[in-house]
Amino acid sequence: MIIKTKKQISENDITDSAIFHKRRQLIKSSLVGSIAALGLFPATSSQAITRWSNVAKAKVGSSALTVTEEKIVKNYTNYYEFSYEKTQSTDLAQALTIDPWSISIKGEVEKPGQLHLEDIIKQFPMQEYIYRFRCVEAWSMVVPWIGFPLAELVKSIKPLSSAKFVKFTTAYLPEVMPNQKDTSMLEWPYVEGLRLDEAMHPLTLLAVGCYGDTLPKQNGAPLRLVVPWKYGFKSIKAIVEIEFLSRAPLTTWNKAAPHDYGFYANVNPSVPHPRWSQSSERVLGSSFFSPRRETELFNGYGDDVASLYQDMDLRHFF
Ligand code: MTE
Repeated sequence: MIIKTKKQISENDITDSAIFHKRRQLIKSSLVGSIAALGLFPATSSQAITRWSNVAKAKVGSSALTVTEEKIVKNYTNYYEFSYEKTQSTDLAQALTIDPWSISIKGEVEKPGQLHLEDIIKQFPMQEYIYRFRCVEAWSMVVPWIGFPLAELVKSIKPLSSAKFVKFTTAYLPEVMPNQKDTSMLEWPYVEGLRLDEAMHPLTLLAVGCYGDTLPKQNGAPLRLVVPWKYGFKSIKAIVEIEFLSRAPLTTWNKAAPHDYGFYANVNPSVPHPRWSQSSERVLGSSFFSPRRETELFNGYGDDVASLYQDMDLRHFF
């Protein structure tokens, strides 16, 4: 993601960097397969493999989608705690220890406390969900996630009637996540939020895997959010805390650049980013000369989610 920082990135810098990355991606794409083959991806727990190789295949909206090549999704990541370069976190994120892992449940709920990842995996039936994923930077991919609806977890911890929003927080480990030592670009830990009804929507997932395997560390292991109708920055990685609130939380990108990144961040081709259009997207893995894809309102999930925003001006609540 690109923000105007204290260093004041100009429009030219952004364009140059986008082209640079595109070129570099083309050059690197022939190398990434061999990186995967060398086994640089994280070891997976045998329990996870047993469960997830047998996981129920995707039912949700999968028929018309062409899944993006696995090696692209796993080597072109946005994980700013590790790097601002999309190809760097594949290696850097391997320093993260994800076992044991627990999530603290806080705020306006009947059952606050610590949830251990093993218990979450045992408690909630995992399934594959093939979703479109649209980054606010105007690229997109299609990923077969493995996970379960966040709503299942929310129901089990019983939010109080005062709970209207859900705040998610990523691990804060500056010794492992080098960019957390520098707050000139972003404040840490990374925080995201949803309205409670968005969190309860059946499309909203907590993902623990993708491509039939455990989630790679660079893609947010061991547990991340996936909200397919919103820009990718809402899909927060490596969650350690879920808090129920009566008011909207201040989220990382919204705080860093409120005019660029709204709290809602619903994919919307008619609301441009202040410095670029959102009307089309570059499909990851498509040839350099392929036409861009026309971006769809709510990333194509409008039939499912438009009712959540019925009376809202989507230009104001962008
Ligand atoms: N979560 C954390 N903790 N840190 C991040 O930098 N990047 C976000 C989102 N979740 C990010 C994050 C952005 S900008 C995008 S587009 C997606 O993760 C990218 O997910 P991917 O790297 O698995 O493709």
